[in-house]
Amino acid sequence: MQIPPEAFKDNGDKMKIILLGPQGSGKGTQAKLISKKFNIPHISTGDIFRKNIKEETELGKEVTSYLNSGKLVPDELTNKLVESRIKEDDCKNGFILDGFPRNIKQAEFLNSVTDIDYAVDVEIPDEEVVFRLEGRRNCSNKGCGAIYNLNTSPKPKENNTCDKCSSDLFQRDDDKPEAIKKRLEIYHEQTSPLIDYYDKKGILIIIDGSRSIEEVSQDIFLALK
Ligand code: AP5
Repeated sequence: MQIPPEAFKDNGDKMKIILLGPQGSGKGTQAKLISKKFNIPHISTGDIFRKNIKEETELGKEVTSYLNSGKLVPDELTNKLVESRIKEDDCKNGFILDGFPRNIKQAEFLNSVTDIDYAVDVEIPDEEVVFRLEGRRNCSNKGCGAIYNLNTSPKPKENNTCDKCSSDLFQRDDDKPEAIKKRLEIYHEQTSPLIDYYDKKGILIIIDGSRSIEEVSQDIFLALK
């Protein structure tokens, strides 16, 4: 579906956005589109952790077991990481936080360091989470970062190769059934209370994420005016 140009109206104000929603709801997919349209950086705590694991940094070694088993990385470590990232120069006109905050403590921390303009909650049912995560394949080239899906969309032309840069595709360790189950439990216990938290602050936008990528982004862009 074609998105009308007026949907991309940028009011020139700062855009500090957080993306909520269960695993696989399309936060990463939508964050990349929002980032491009509004020219603000996409900050994914999960991507930062995975990059550090790949590069075998001290942080990477510290967080590997949490990511592989689907558990949350300790708040103190995650909070510090986000605080320093959002102070960087490219965040002066705003940012999109994808995967942070993930519990009330992280939300309180974020609240103490900056104001948020919009909390966008992309919702899908649990069965769809499992279906999408089992089919997800990621481009191994960090500069590209394309996301595909063998079960839904976008499907790569060849199962193991990125359409955009021809690098290999891989399946995340936490997209295996046991880790998906653990992540969903944590989502319902710790992350979903944030919906009410941001609703009370009057900045919550709820989006039905079970439709096509284009329909979801169209709704998000219209809501972010
Ligand atoms: P993170 O990387 O943030 O993972 P997540 O929240 O589990 O989210 P996902 O990346 O799984 O899903 P997504 O919503 O981005 O979906 P996507 O766009 O890829 O976190 C990983 C780990 O890091 C955590 O488990 C934890 O250990 C740690 N961590 C991160 N942040 C933390 C924090 N704040 N505190 C503590 N620990 C933290 O889409 C999914 C698939 O569906 C793709 O294949 C895509 O192509 C497809 N798709 C997308 N949209 C659609 C659509 N509309 N229709 C059909 N298919 C679609």
